[in-house]
Amino acid sequence: MAILITGGAGYIGSHTAVELMKTKHEIIILDNLSNSNRESLERVKELGGRDLKFYEADIRSRQSLDLVFAENNIEAVIHFAALKAVGESHEKPLDYYENNIGGTVILLQAMKAAGCKKIVFSSSATVYGSENTSPLKENMPLGRATNPYGTTKMYVEQILQDLYASDEDWSISLLRYFNPVGAHKSGRIGEAPSGVPNNLMPYIAQVAVGKLDFLRVYGNDYPTDDGTGVRDYIHVVDLAAGHVSALEKVLAGPGCDIYNLGTGKGSSVLEVVAAFEKASGRAIPYKFFDRRPGDVAENFADPGKANDELGWRAVRGLEEMCEDSWRWQSQNQDGY
Ligand code: NAD
Ligand code: WQD
Repeated sequence: MAILITGGAGYIGSHTAVELMKTKHEIIILDNLSNSNRESLERVKELGGRDLKFYEADIRSRQSLDLVFAENNIEAVIHFAALKAVGESHEKPLDYYENNIGGTVILLQAMKAAGCKKIVFSSSATVYGSENTSPLKENMPLGRATNPYGTTKMYVEQILQDLYASDEDWSISLLRYFNPVGAHKSGRIGEAPSGVPNNLMPYIAQVAVGKLDFLRVYGNDYPTDDGTGVRDYIHVVDLAAGHVSALEKVLAGPGCDIYNLGTGKGSSVLEVVAAFEKASGRAIPYKFFDRRPGDVAENFADPGKANDELGWRAVRGLEEMCEDSWRWQSQNQDGY
Protein backbone atom coordinates (compact mmCIF):
# COMPACT_ATOMS: atom_id res chain seq x y z
CA MET A 1 0.00 0.00 0.00
CA ALA A 2 1.20 3.50 -0.81
CA ILE A 3 0.99 6.95 0.74
CA LEU A 4 0.34 9.90 -1.57
CA ILE A 5 2.04 13.14 -0.55
CA THR A 6 0.63 16.21 -2.31
CA GLY A 7 3.08 19.12 -2.28
CA GLY A 8 5.81 16.65 -1.37
CA ALA A 9 8.55 18.55 -3.24
CA GLY A 10 8.08 21.57 -0.94
CA TYR A 11 9.69 22.49 2.37
CA ILE A 12 7.66 20.47 4.89
CA GLY A 13 6.63 17.79 2.40
CA SER A 14 10.23 16.93 1.47
CA HIS A 15 11.23 16.55 5.13
CA THR A 16 8.16 14.42 5.78
CA ALA A 17 9.00 12.23 2.78
CA VAL A 18 12.47 11.59 4.23
CA GLU A 19 10.97 10.57 7.59
CA LEU A 20 8.39 8.36 5.87
CA MET A 21 11.13 6.61 3.92
CA LYS A 22 12.24 5.12 7.23
CA THR A 23 8.92 3.24 7.36
CA LYS A 24 7.63 0.41 5.19
CA HIS A 25 5.28 2.64 3.19
CA GLU A 26 5.67 3.10 -0.55
CA ILE A 27 5.82 6.84 -1.32
CA ILE A 28 4.18 8.71 -4.15
CA ILE A 29 4.62 12.46 -4.53
CA LEU A 30 2.35 14.73 -6.54
CA ASP A 31 3.44 18.34 -6.97
CA ASN A 32 2.98 20.97 -9.69
CA LEU A 33 6.39 22.46 -8.78
CA SER A 34 4.84 25.95 -8.55
CA ASN A 35 6.92 26.64 -5.43
CA SER A 36 9.51 23.87 -5.55
CA ASN A 37 12.00 22.03 -7.63
CA ARG A 38 12.75 18.51 -8.85
CA GLU A 39 16.17 18.71 -7.20
CA SER A 40 14.55 18.51 -3.75
CA LEU A 41 13.11 15.12 -4.75
CA GLU A 42 16.52 13.88 -5.92
CA ARG A 43 17.88 14.81 -2.50
CA VAL A 44 14.95 13.18 -0.70
CA LYS A 45 15.77 9.93 -2.53
CA GLU A 46 19.45 10.31 -1.65
CA LEU A 47 18.65 10.86 2.05
CA GLY A 48 15.94 8.20 2.18
CA GLY A 49 18.15 5.65 0.43
CA ARG A 50 15.34 4.42 -1.80
CA ASP A 51 13.18 5.39 -4.74
CA LEU A 52 9.85 7.16 -4.81
CA LYS A 53 7.32 7.78 -7.56
CA PHE A 54 6.75 11.36 -8.71
CA TYR A 55 3.87 12.88 -10.68
CA GLU A 56 4.25 16.46 -11.88
CA ALA A 57 0.56 17.30 -11.61
CA ASP A 58 -1.91 19.72 -10.09
CA ILE A 59 -4.43 18.89 -7.38
CA ARG A 60 -6.96 20.95 -9.31
CA SER A 61 -6.86 18.43 -12.16
CA ARG A 62 -9.37 15.69 -11.44
CA GLN A 63 -8.10 13.81 -14.49
CA SER A 64 -4.54 13.71 -13.12
CA LEU A 65 -5.74 12.64 -9.69
CA ASP A 66 -7.89 9.85 -11.12
CA LEU A 67 -4.86 8.58 -13.03
CA VAL A 68 -2.68 8.60 -9.90
CA PHE A 69 -5.32 6.68 -7.92
CA ALA A 70 -5.89 4.23 -10.80
CA GLU A 71 -2.18 3.48 -11.22
CA ASN A 72 -1.43 2.99 -7.51
CA ASN A 73 -2.89 1.31 -4.47
CA ILE A 74 -3.07 4.43 -2.29
CA GLU A 75 -4.08 3.89 1.33
CA ALA A 76 -3.83 7.44 2.63
CA VAL A 77 -2.96 10.99 1.57
CA ILE A 78 -0.81 13.57 3.34
CA HIS A 79 -2.00 16.83 1.84
CA PHE A 80 0.53 19.68 1.86
CA ALA A 81 -0.14 21.23 -1.58
CA ALA A 82 -1.21 24.84 -1.13
CA LEU A 83 -0.18 28.44 -1.70
CA LYS A 84 1.17 29.83 1.57
CA ALA A 85 2.30 33.46 1.32
CA VAL A 86 0.21 35.59 3.67
CA GLY A 87 0.97 38.92 1.93
CA GLU A 88 0.34 37.55 -1.55
CA SER A 89 -3.00 36.15 -0.40
CA HIS A 90 -4.25 39.72 0.14
CA GLU A 91 -3.30 40.58 -3.47
CA LYS A 92 -4.56 37.38 -5.08
CA PRO A 93 -7.35 36.02 -2.88
CA LEU A 94 -9.02 34.16 -5.74
CA ASP A 95 -5.81 32.23 -6.49
CA TYR A 96 -5.66 31.20 -2.83
CA TYR A 97 -9.32 30.17 -2.65
CA GLU A 98 -9.07 28.26 -5.94
CA ASN A 99 -5.84 26.48 -5.14
CA ASN A 100 -6.24 25.78 -1.42
CA ILE A 101 -9.99 25.28 -1.11
CA GLY A 102 -10.98 24.33 -4.68
CA GLY A 103 -7.94 22.06 -5.05
CA THR A 104 -8.67 20.32 -1.75
CA VAL A 105 -12.32 19.70 -2.70
CA ILE A 106 -11.22 18.14 -6.01
CA LEU A 107 -8.67 16.00 -4.17
CA LEU A 108 -11.33 14.82 -1.69
CA GLN A 109 -13.72 13.99 -4.55
CA ALA A 110 -11.03 11.94 -6.28
CA MET A 111 -10.19 10.17 -3.01
CA LYS A 112 -13.84 9.35 -2.38
CA ALA A 113 -14.27 8.00 -5.92
CA ALA A 114 -11.18 5.82 -5.42
CA GLY A 115 -12.39 4.58 -2.02
CA CYS A 116 -9.45 6.19 -0.19
CA LYS A 117 -10.83 7.90 2.92
CA LYS A 118 -7.75 8.61 5.00
CA ILE A 119 -6.12 12.05 5.03
CA VAL A 120 -3.65 14.11 7.05
CA PHE A 121 -4.11 17.84 6.37
CA SER A 122 -1.69 20.77 6.82
CA SER A 123 -3.55 23.37 8.78
CA SER A 124 -2.01 26.26 10.64
CA ALA A 125 -2.01 27.99 14.00
CA THR A 126 -3.19 31.02 12.05
CA VAL A 127 -6.76 29.63 12.45
CA TYR A 128 -6.69 30.66 16.13
CA GLY A 129 -6.87 34.30 14.98
CA SER A 130 -5.97 37.13 17.30
CA GLU A 131 -8.63 36.77 20.01
CA ASN A 132 -7.35 33.64 21.77
CA THR A 133 -4.69 33.71 24.48
CA SER A 134 -1.66 31.40 24.41
CA PRO A 135 -1.11 28.56 25.18
CA LEU A 136 -3.51 27.74 22.35
CA LYS A 137 -5.64 24.61 22.68
CA GLU A 138 -7.45 22.71 19.95
CA ASN A 139 -10.87 23.19 21.54
CA MET A 140 -10.71 27.00 21.63
CA PRO A 141 -13.26 28.77 19.43
CA LEU A 142 -11.52 29.92 16.27
CA GLY A 143 -11.02 33.61 15.72
CA ARG A 144 -11.44 35.43 12.46
CA ALA A 145 -8.41 34.81 10.24
CA THR A 146 -6.46 38.00 9.55
CA ASN A 147 -5.73 37.16 5.91
CA PRO A 148 -7.20 35.17 2.98
CA TYR A 149 -4.52 32.47 3.34
CA GLY A 150 -5.66 31.83 6.92
CA THR A 151 -9.27 31.83 5.80
CA THR A 152 -8.50 29.00 3.35
CA LYS A 153 -7.17 26.89 6.23
CA MET A 154 -10.30 27.60 8.33
CA TYR A 155 -12.59 26.61 5.46
CA VAL A 156 -10.72 23.42 4.66
CA GLU A 157 -10.83 22.42 8.33
CA GLN A 158 -14.61 22.96 8.23
CA ILE A 159 -14.97 21.03 4.95
CA LEU A 160 -13.09 18.06 6.41
CA GLN A 161 -15.22 18.10 9.56
CA ASP A 162 -18.42 18.26 7.47
CA LEU A 163 -17.15 15.37 5.36
CA TYR A 164 -16.57 13.25 8.46
CA ALA A 165 -20.02 14.19 9.81
CA SER A 166 -21.51 12.94 6.53
CA ASP A 167 -19.58 9.66 6.50
CA GLU A 168 -17.84 8.35 9.61
CA ASP A 169 -15.75 5.91 7.56
CA TRP A 170 -13.36 8.80 6.90
CA SER A 171 -10.19 9.02 8.93
CA ILE A 172 -8.93 12.60 9.16
CA SER A 173 -6.17 14.38 11.02
CA LEU A 174 -5.99 18.18 11.00
CA LEU A 175 -2.53 19.34 12.01
CA ARG A 176 -2.17 22.94 13.15
CA TYR A 177 1.49 23.83 12.69
CA PHE A 178 3.04 26.63 14.66
CA ASN A 179 6.19 28.18 13.09
CA PRO A 180 8.17 25.56 11.14
CA VAL A 181 11.90 26.37 10.83
CA GLY A 182 15.23 24.57 10.49
CA ALA A 183 16.34 21.99 7.99
CA HIS A 184 17.50 18.40 7.69
CA LYS A 185 20.77 17.78 9.57
CA SER A 186 22.56 16.85 6.33
CA GLY A 187 22.16 20.38 4.93
CA ARG A 188 20.79 18.79 1.73
CA ILE A 189 17.13 19.85 2.03
CA GLY A 190 15.62 22.97 3.54
CA GLU A 191 13.40 25.96 2.92
CA ALA A 192 14.10 27.72 -0.37
CA PRO A 193 11.85 30.79 -0.56
CA SER A 194 11.66 32.55 -3.90
CA GLY A 195 12.53 36.24 -3.68
CA VAL A 196 12.89 38.05 -0.37
CA PRO A 197 11.71 35.80 2.47
CA ASN A 198 8.56 36.79 4.38
CA ASN A 199 9.29 34.68 7.44
CA LEU A 200 11.74 35.45 10.21
CA MET A 201 14.16 32.50 10.14
CA PRO A 202 14.91 32.45 6.39
CA TYR A 203 15.24 36.25 6.48
CA ILE A 204 17.79 36.07 9.31
CA ALA A 205 19.65 33.28 7.49
CA GLN A 206 19.97 35.47 4.40
CA VAL A 207 21.25 38.38 6.51
CA ALA A 208 23.83 36.05 8.07
CA VAL A 209 25.08 34.88 4.69
CA GLY A 210 25.27 38.48 3.40
CA LYS A 211 22.42 38.35 0.87
CA LEU A 212 20.39 40.90 2.86
CA ASP A 213 21.81 43.87 4.78
CA PHE A 214 19.82 43.83 8.01
CA LEU A 215 16.72 42.42 9.65
CA ARG A 216 13.63 44.58 10.06
CA VAL A 217 12.22 43.75 13.49
CA TYR A 218 8.49 44.43 13.26
CA GLY A 219 7.55 46.02 16.58
CA ASN A 220 9.42 46.46 19.87
CA ASP A 221 6.42 47.65 21.86
CA TYR A 222 4.50 44.42 22.28
CA PRO A 223 3.53 43.38 25.83
CA THR A 224 6.24 40.69 25.85
CA ASP A 225 9.45 40.49 27.93
CA ASP A 226 11.63 42.32 25.39
CA GLY A 227 8.83 44.00 23.41
CA THR A 228 9.24 41.84 20.26
CA GLY A 229 6.80 39.22 18.96
CA VAL A 230 6.84 35.74 20.50
CA ARG A 231 6.25 32.57 18.44
CA ASP A 232 6.43 28.82 18.90
CA TYR A 233 9.19 27.80 16.47
CA ILE A 234 9.21 24.09 15.68
CA HIS A 235 12.01 22.19 13.96
CA VAL A 236 10.81 20.91 10.58
CA VAL A 237 12.15 17.42 11.32
CA ASP A 238 10.05 17.28 14.52
CA LEU A 239 7.10 18.46 12.45
CA ALA A 240 7.79 15.74 9.86
CA ALA A 241 7.87 13.11 12.63
CA GLY A 242 4.49 14.46 13.79
CA HIS A 243 3.09 13.60 10.35
CA VAL A 244 4.36 10.04 10.60
CA SER A 245 2.60 9.71 13.98
CA ALA A 246 -0.60 11.29 12.66
CA LEU A 247 -0.49 8.98 9.64
CA GLU A 248 -0.29 5.92 11.88
CA LYS A 249 -3.33 7.21 13.80
CA VAL A 250 -5.25 7.79 10.58
CA LEU A 251 -4.35 4.32 9.31
CA ALA A 252 -5.48 2.73 12.59
CA GLY A 253 -9.18 3.61 12.17
CA PRO A 254 -11.81 6.23 11.44
CA GLY A 255 -12.16 9.54 13.26
CA CYS A 256 -11.61 13.26 12.82
CA ASP A 257 -9.05 14.82 15.13
CA ILE A 258 -7.26 18.14 15.42
CA TYR A 259 -3.72 18.40 16.78
CA ASN A 260 -1.42 21.31 17.52
CA LEU A 261 2.12 20.61 16.36
CA GLY A 262 4.26 22.98 18.36
CA THR A 263 6.82 22.85 21.15
CA GLY A 264 4.77 24.74 23.75
CA LYS A 265 7.62 27.23 24.18
CA GLY A 266 7.60 30.76 22.80
CA SER A 267 10.71 32.67 21.66
CA SER A 268 10.93 36.38 20.89
CA VAL A 269 12.39 37.83 17.70
CA LEU A 270 15.44 39.04 19.64
CA GLU A 271 15.93 35.60 21.22
CA VAL A 272 15.93 34.07 17.73
CA VAL A 273 18.44 36.68 16.54
CA ALA A 274 20.76 35.91 19.49
CA ALA A 275 20.46 32.13 18.97
CA PHE A 276 21.22 32.50 15.26
CA GLU A 277 24.25 34.68 15.93
CA LYS A 278 25.58 32.00 18.29
CA ALA A 279 24.88 29.18 15.84
CA SER A 280 26.40 30.93 12.82
CA GLY A 281 29.16 32.97 14.43
CA ARG A 282 27.90 35.90 12.31
CA ALA A 283 26.46 39.23 13.46
CA ILE A 284 22.81 39.84 12.52
CA PRO A 285 22.34 43.61 12.27
CA TYR A 286 18.75 44.69 12.86
CA LYS A 287 16.60 47.82 13.05
CA PHE A 288 13.24 48.29 14.72
CA PHE A 289 10.23 49.04 12.52
CA ASP A 290 6.51 49.48 13.15
CA ARG A 291 4.43 46.41 13.92
CA ARG A 292 3.48 44.34 10.86
CA PRO A 293 -0.29 44.52 10.22
CA GLY A 294 -2.09 41.34 11.28
CA ASP A 295 0.66 40.22 13.71
CA VAL A 296 -0.17 39.23 17.28
CA ALA A 297 2.07 39.76 20.33
CA GLU A 298 2.50 36.11 21.20
CA ASN A 299 1.42 32.78 19.89
CA PHE A 300 2.42 29.39 21.25
CA ALA A 301 0.87 25.95 21.46
CA ASP A 302 -0.39 23.68 24.13
CA PRO A 303 0.94 20.51 22.44
CA GLY A 304 -0.49 18.21 25.15
CA LYS A 305 -3.11 16.53 22.96
CA ALA A 306 -0.58 15.49 20.30
CA ASN A 307 1.83 14.38 23.05
CA ASP A 308 -0.85 12.19 24.68
CA GLU A 309 -2.79 10.85 21.71
CA LEU A 310 -0.11 10.63 19.01
CA GLY A 311 2.77 9.77 21.35
CA TRP A 312 4.68 12.56 19.60
CA ARG A 313 6.73 15.35 21.09
CA ALA A 314 8.99 18.05 19.61
CA VAL A 315 12.51 17.38 20.91
CA ARG A 316 14.72 19.88 19.08
CA GLY A 317 15.36 23.29 20.67
CA LEU A 318 15.97 26.77 19.25
CA GLU A 319 19.75 26.28 19.16
CA GLU A 320 19.42 23.20 16.92
CA MET A 321 16.84 24.96 14.73
CA CYS A 322 19.29 27.81 14.12
CA GLU A 323 22.30 25.51 13.58
CA ASP A 324 20.41 23.48 10.99
CA SER A 325 18.98 26.56 9.24
CA TRP A 326 22.46 28.00 9.06
CA ARG A 327 23.99 24.79 7.66
CA TRP A 328 21.31 24.64 4.95
CA GLN A 329 21.63 28.37 4.10
CA SER A 330 25.43 28.47 4.06
CA GLN A 331 25.71 25.30 1.94
CA ASN A 332 22.93 26.27 -0.50
CA GLN A 333 23.16 30.03 -0.84
CA ASP A 334 20.70 30.19 -3.73
CA GLY A 335 18.47 27.33 -2.66
CA TYR A 336 18.27 24.26 -4.88
P1 NAD B 1 5.87 24.88 0.12
O1 NAD B 1 5.39 25.96 -0.78
O2 NAD B 1 7.32 24.67 0.28
O3 NAD B 1 5.21 23.48 -0.30
C1 NAD B 1 3.95 23.40 -0.92
C2 NAD B 1 4.11 22.56 -2.18
O4 NAD B 1 2.84 22.43 -2.81
C3 NAD B 1 5.06 23.18 -3.20
O5 NAD B 1 6.01 22.21 -3.59
C4 NAD B 1 4.16 23.59 -4.36
O6 NAD B 1 4.82 23.47 -5.61
C5 NAD B 1 3.01 22.60 -4.21
N1 NAD B 1 1.72 23.04 -4.75
C6 NAD B 1 1.09 24.23 -4.54
N2 NAD B 1 -0.08 24.24 -5.18
C7 NAD B 1 -0.22 23.04 -5.80
C8 NAD B 1 -1.22 22.46 -6.62
N3 NAD B 1 -2.31 23.14 -6.96
N4 NAD B 1 -1.04 21.20 -7.09
C9 NAD B 1 0.08 20.52 -6.77
N5 NAD B 1 1.07 21.02 -6.01
C10 NAD B 1 0.92 22.27 -5.53
O7 NAD B 1 5.18 25.12 1.54
P2 NAD B 1 5.44 24.42 2.95
O8 NAD B 1 6.01 25.44 3.85
O9 NAD B 1 6.12 23.13 2.77
O10 NAD B 1 3.92 24.20 3.40
C11 NAD B 1 3.27 22.96 3.24
C12 NAD B 1 1.87 23.08 3.80
O11 NAD B 1 1.92 23.46 5.18
C13 NAD B 1 1.00 24.12 3.12
O12 NAD B 1 -0.31 23.63 3.06
C14 NAD B 1 1.08 25.31 4.06
O13 NAD B 1 -0.05 26.13 3.96
C15 NAD B 1 1.12 24.60 5.39
N6 NAD B 1 1.72 25.40 6.48
C16 NAD B 1 2.96 25.93 6.29
C17 NAD B 1 3.53 26.69 7.31
C18 NAD B 1 4.89 27.34 7.13
O14 NAD B 1 5.19 28.29 7.84
N7 NAD B 1 5.76 26.83 6.23
C19 NAD B 1 2.84 26.90 8.51
C20 NAD B 1 1.57 26.34 8.66
C21 NAD B 1 1.02 25.58 7.62
C1 WQD C 1 7.57 35.60 13.18
C2 WQD C 1 7.89 36.81 14.05
C3 WQD C 1 7.15 38.89 13.08
C4 WQD C 1 9.86 38.71 9.64
C5 WQD C 1 3.54 33.09 9.47
C6 WQD C 1 2.13 32.98 8.96
C7 WQD C 1 1.45 31.78 9.55
C8 WQD C 1 2.27 30.51 9.35
C9 WQD C 1 3.70 30.69 9.75
C10 WQD C 1 1.49 29.30 7.44
C11 WQD C 1 6.74 37.83 14.11
C12 WQD C 1 8.66 38.85 13.18
C13 WQD C 1 9.18 38.42 10.81
C14 WQD C 1 10.75 39.82 9.61
C15 WQD C 1 10.21 40.26 11.92
N1 WQD C 1 2.30 30.12 7.97
N2 WQD C 1 9.36 39.18 11.93
N3 WQD C 1 10.90 40.54 10.76
O1 WQD C 1 3.85 35.69 11.17
O2 WQD C 1 4.20 34.08 13.08
O3 WQD C 1 3.50 33.23 10.89
O4 WQD C 1 4.25 31.87 9.15
O5 WQD C 1 0.50 28.82 7.89
O6 WQD C 1 0.20 31.70 8.94
O7 WQD C 1 1.43 34.17 9.30
O8 WQD C 1 5.78 34.05 11.14
O9 WQD C 1 8.17 34.14 10.55
O10 WQD C 1 6.59 35.80 9.49
O11 WQD C 1 7.12 36.02 11.91
O12 WQD C 1 10.36 40.95 12.92
O13 WQD C 1 11.36 40.14 8.59
O14 WQD C 1 8.99 37.50 13.47
O15 WQD C 1 6.67 40.15 13.32
O16 WQD C 1 6.76 38.40 15.41
P1 WQD C 1 4.29 34.40 11.63
P2 WQD C 1 6.97 35.00 10.68
